[in-house]
Amino acid sequence: MKSSIGNANRYPRMEYKSLAERIAAANNVKPEQVLLGCGSTEILRMAAFAFLGNGRQLIQASPTFEAIEHYARAAGSEIISVRLTPGFAHDLDGMLARATASTTLVYICNPNNPTATLTPRKDVENFITKLPASTFVVIDEAYHHYAGQSGMYASFIDRPLDDERVIVARTFSKVYGLAGLRLGYAVASPKLIQQMQKFATEDNINAVVTQAAGAALDDTDAINAFIQRNTDDRQEFFNQAMARALKPIDSHANFVMMNTFHPAEEVIQHFRKNNILIGRRFPPMDTYIRISLGRPEEMRAFWRTWDMLPYPKHSMQH
Ligand SMILES: Cc1ncc(COP(=O)(O)O)c(C=O)c1O
Repeated sequence: MKSSIGNANRYPRMEYKSLAERIAAANNVKPEQVLLGCGSTEILRMAAFAFLGNGRQLIQASPTFEAIEHYARAAGSEIISVRLTPGFAHDLDGMLARATASTTLVYICNPNNPTATLTPRKDVENFITKLPASTFVVIDEAYHHYAGQSGMYASFIDRPLDDERVIVARTFSKVYGLAGLRLGYAVASPKLIQQMQKFATEDNINAVVTQAAGAALDDTDAINAFIQRNTDDRQEFFNQAMARALKPIDSHANFVMMNTFHPAEEVIQHFRKNNILIGRRFPPMDTYIRISLGRPEEMRAFWRTWDMLPYPKHSMQH
C-alpha cells in the first residue's frame, strides 16, 4: 500500500484491468464476468439502476442489509419486504408468492445481515428456478468467508448455478479488512456485467486498493487465520452468552444478533454511555441487538457492560 502511494497521481486504469483479471482467476471465472465497484455497495447500486426503475419491483427480506433498498427507491421502484422465517432464513415461499412479471430484482443476503443466519443453498436454488424469467437475483456474499463448511451453504461463485439471471456480490471490506479502501465486485454473465457497468462511476477504484487487494488475495494463510480467529471469538461469545442463560441467534458471520427482551434502543444507549458502540436498531426486530465481534479485550468490556444492565435479567432468560 505504501509503495502504491507513489502512483496516486495517475488514474489506476491499467491496474483496474489487472485486478479484474486477478479476481477472475481467483474465482475461476472469465475477466468479462467480473465488475469492480467502490465497495460492494456500488455493485448493489449498479444492480438497482440496471434492473429496476418505475413500475418495477424489488423483493427483499426484512430485516436485511438496506443499501439496495435505498437505491431501488432512488430508481423509482416499489419495494416488497418479506419477513424472515421464525428461524431467520429468507422466507422464499413468501417471496415467491409476491413475485410477478414486474419483479425484476430479488435480493438475497446470505449469510444475512443483520441476523448472521443462513438460507439453505438448496432452497435458494429451487426458489430461483421458480422465479419469473424476467427476474434477476443478486446474491450478496459479503460474509461468505464466515459461513463455514456446512451442507447448508455454498457460494454461488464456487458452485455456480447454470442460470444467467444470477449476480453475486462480494466485498473486500470484511475478512480482507479493507473496508476503508472501498473495493467490491460482482460475478455474473458477461451480458449482465455490461448492463451494470453502464451505471458505474468512472474510475471507481483507487491506486492503493488495486495493490492491497492483490496482496490480500495472495495471503491465504492470513485469511485462514482471520477466519479461525473469528470462529474462536464467536465461540467465546456464545460461551459467555450461555453462562448467562442467553440464546443469541446462531451466527454464520462476524457479528451476532441477540434478543434482549427489552427495547433495543435502551440497551444500545446503555452501551453507548459506557463507550461501547453496538449495532443500531433493526426494525422489526425491536428487542434485538447486533454485536460485531471485536478483540478479546473489547468483548470482555462488552460483557462487563452487559452485566451492568439495570434491567431485571430474568426477563431475558427465555
Ligand atoms: C451484506 C452486506 N453487503 C454489502 C455491504 C457493503 O460493503 P462494502 O460497500 O464495504 O463492500 C455490507 C456492509 O456492511 C454488508 O453487510
